[in-house]
Amino acid sequence: MKARIAVLPGDGIGPEVTAEAVRALTAVAGRFGHEFQFEQALLGGAAIDATGEALPPATLALCRSADAILMGAVGGPKWSAPDAKVRPEQGLLSLRKALGLFANLRPVVPHPAVLDASPIKAELLKGVDIMVVRELTGGIYFGDKQRTDTEAVDVCRYSVAEIERVVRLAARLAGERRGKLTSVDKANVLETSRLWRAVVERILPGEFPKLRYEHMLVDAAAMHLIRKPADFDVIVTENMFGDILTDEASMLAGSLGLLPSASLGEQPRGGLYEPIHGSAPDIAGRGIANPYATLLSAAMLLKLSLGLLAEAAALESAVSRVIDAGVRPADIAARGARAATTREAGDAVIAALESAHQ
Ligand code: IPM
Ligand code: MG
Repeated sequence: MKARIAVLPGDGIGPEVTAEAVRALTAVAGRFGHEFQFEQALLGGAAIDATGEALPPATLALCRSADAILMGAVGGPKWSAPDAKVRPEQGLLSLRKALGLFANLRPVVPHPAVLDASPIKAELLKGVDIMVVRELTGGIYFGDKQRTDTEAVDVCRYSVAEIERVVRLAARLAGERRGKLTSVDKANVLETSRLWRAVVERILPGEFPKLRYEHMLVDAAAMHLIRKPADFDVIVTENMFGDILTDEASMLAGSLGLLPSASLGEQPRGGLYEPIHGSAPDIAGRGIANPYATLLSAAMLLKLSLGLLAEAAALESAVSRVIDAGVRPADIAARGARAATTREAGDAVIAALESAHQ
C-alpha cells in the first residue's frame, strides 16, 4: 500500500527518536512491499522559533491530509518562562483538539527481560498487561483559563457526548481483551466525575452486558496501580487523571522510554502516534535517548491507522527481541553494562526486522 505519514520531530530528543522510527518504518515498507512517504513539519518550540506559532497552519494542514502522524516530543526550558506568550505544549494540545483525537491509548506491558529496570518488585509485575484509555480533548486541559494578580482559574468541563464516545471506545477494547473495565474518577468531590460515573452506569450494562466493570477513585487507583497492577485490564479516565496515572504506570514497565501511545478520533485514519515521554532537554542532542517508545508507537501506527497487522507485529517483535538480546539504552541499562546509543538501538531493531522469518 501507499501511505503518507506526517512526521513532527518536535523538540529535545524528539528529532533523535523519530529519526529511528522513520528508519524502522522504511525498513518495514521495504520488507513488506509498501511505499511510505514521510513529510516533516514543525511543532512545539521548534515551530515557535521558526514561525512564532507552536502549531503553524502548514503543520495542521499536513496533519489533516496525512494517513497517520508520527510525533516526537515538545517542550523545553527555552520556551517555559512563566510569562511566555506561546508555549510548545499548546501546539500539541491544539493539534489533538483540531484533529478530534479524543482517545489516547497507552498500553503498559512490562517486558520480561527488563523487570529489573522497574522500581516495583518483579513478583508484582507478573501478568501485568494494562491499556489506559485517556480522554484527550476535554476536561481541565481545555476549559476556560483566567489569571489576575491575585488568583487563577482553570475550568474543568465535560459533556455527556464527550464521555460517551471515549467510554464506548474503551469498552470495545476491553471486550477484545480480558473483558474488564475500570473507570477512574473523583466522584466523591467533582461534579464532572459524577456525570462521568452516571454515563458509565448507563452505557455499560445496556450496551456491553458481558463486560465486568468497576469504578475507582483516582487516588485509590494511583495506589492500586503499584499494589496490584495485574488486577487491571482496561482503564478509562478523564484527561488529567490519565496524564498523571500513565507516568506512574510507566514505572511498571521500567521507564518512560518504553511506553508508546496512539491518539485516535472517530476514524482510524489520521491517528497521532507518540511516545508518552517528554522532550528530555537534559539529554537532548547526545544520541543516548531510548527510541523504543517511539518505535512501539510506530508499530501502533501500522496497526491502528494503516491496518497493517503483520507489519505491526513484525516491528513489535523486533523491538522485543532486541530488548531480550540486551540492547538497552541508558534509561534501562543493566547495572555496570554499557548502554546502547539511540542509533545502535535503532540499528538493532532494523537488523532484527530484516532477519525475521515472515
Ligand atoms: C503527555 C504530555 C502532554 C500532556 C504535555 C506535553 C502537554 O505530558 O502527552 O502526556 O499533558 O498531555
Ligand atoms: Mg504526560
